Amino acid sequence: MPKTNSNQGKRLTPTDIRKQKGKEPIVMLTAYTAAMARALDSHVDLLLVGDSLGMVLYGYDNTLKVTVEMMIRHGSAVVRASRHAGVVVDLPFGSYQESPQVAYRNAAMILAKTGCSAVKLEGGQEMAETVSFLVQRGVPVMGHIGLTPQHINTIGGFRAQGRTASEAEKLKTDAIAISDAGAFAIVAEAMPMETGAAVTKAASASIIGIGAGERCDGQILVTHDILGLAGSFKPKFVKRYIDLDAQISAAAEDFSKDVRSRKFPSKIHNYQLKNSE
Ligand code: KIV
Repeated sequence: MPKTNSNQGKRLTPTDIRKQKGKEPIVMLTAYTAAMARALDSHVDLLLVGDSLGMVLYGYDNTLKVTVEMMIRHGSAVVRASRHAGVVVDLPFGSYQESPQVAYRNAAMILAKTGCSAVKLEGGQEMAETVSFLVQRGVPVMGHIGLTPQHINTIGGFRAQGRTASEAEKLKTDAIAISDAGAFAIVAEAMPMETGAAVTKAASASIIGIGAGERCDGQILVTHDILGLAGSFKPKFVKRYIDLDAQISAAAEDFSKDVRSRKFPSKIHNYQLKNSE
């Protein structure tokens, strides 16, 4: 059943999402294509066109090869196919870290060309100046702290963060800095439940967890993970709701058998000749 709320018929805005903090859980899923956006739109508050598309759709080992052009192409498709959820598009690696000005140029282009509601960028305290620069100039920003996949080469792998008291304190400081700089929401990825809860309590922005426990203001997962469309690897924090890989494979096997045994196409799939005059 599609969710019903007072915003039905109007796309949710970053301001709506910030106001949901501590009141109603925020629901967010990734979407990279028009077909997926259509199926998810009425059930979620936010759709993320994540740079995870580099791994999920394009088969890269990490997200570093994703470009601004790729994000614009997929972001535009998701915006065109949705009307309820706010659409957030990731700023890819190398498009914002150099300076607030470079970040603004790329974020403004993504916002203008896709029509999305906001952009997301990775990083803590060190990105606060950039977040503030963008927000003050009309670009709504979602932050992303904890496991930040664009830092794969400096954090040494896809592993949980904030597991010691000092690491947890650092994540709290990061969340407050990004939040105070004007981010309306922050993705908190891969950290103990206690750290997720502390970050959620400390920041005024809405904290959307992915592997950060149940006390965050909302939850996001990669849609292909919950659908069983992401291969055999399943991160600890993923709940799989259906095994589409297996269902697609079974459908392809049935089609293949039908074609080879000449059961398909049958009469009902054929065009009829018209009577000639
Ligand atoms: O790129 C992405 O899909 C993300 C989510 C994992 C939060 O950043």
